Amino acid sequence: MARASTAMKPLIDARRIAKRVGEIAQKIARSVPAEERPIAVVVLQGSFIFAADVLRRLPSGYPIDVAFVRCQSYGSGTVSSGRVMLLHDIDLDMDLRGRTVILIDDILDTGLTLEYLTAHLQRRGAARVVLCVLLARKKTKARIAADFTGFRIGGQFVVGYGLDFDGKYRQLPYIAVLPHKH
Ligand code: IMP
Ligand code: MG
Repeated sequence: MARASTAMKPLIDARRIAKRVGEIAQKIARSVPAEERPIAVVVLQGSFIFAADVLRRLPSGYPIDVAFVRCQSYGSGTVSSGRVMLLHDIDLDMDLRGRTVILIDDILDTGLTLEYLTAHLQRRGAARVVLCVLLARKKTKARIAADFTGFRIGGQFVVGYGLDFDGKYRQLPYIAVLPHKH
């Protein structure tokens, strides 16, 4: 049986995350008016916790639909494969034409995932795609930038609060740097 590993040292603790998530929710509600008929597109699997928290901090009367996409750009390692695959698209009967999509992802690393998804959602008719990420790399060759970013981090591979290494650690309530023992 696998032993439970000792707790990892948080890089960003749960309190800081909660505070920032509230700020981001406020910014979203302010900058995307109801008339734009916003739809949150949650990028599975990494952003499921972040997205759930941001959505619950939006004003209760704010009209927003929620849909899910699933992408894969990583295999089981810690380096991008450089390819993006769409494993699950939002429902085909969901009409995006003229609407603003708030695309929610865990981390903007190479930017390939969000570039790919932005183009895809625009092809499906979205009038505007707003990018909201929990994390972004400080130094990046990404050709796109997020509209709302939780935290900027260095080059470390991080886990927790939805982010995984090889499918593990998503359940941590904080963000931690992956120890070098793998
Ligand atoms: P991209 O390189 O911007 O396309 O990032 C794609 C995906 O890589 C993200 O959505 C994450 O799922 C994953 N990723 C990148 N850096 C990390 C990390 O430090 N920890 C966990 N997943 C990561
Ligand atoms: Mg991932």
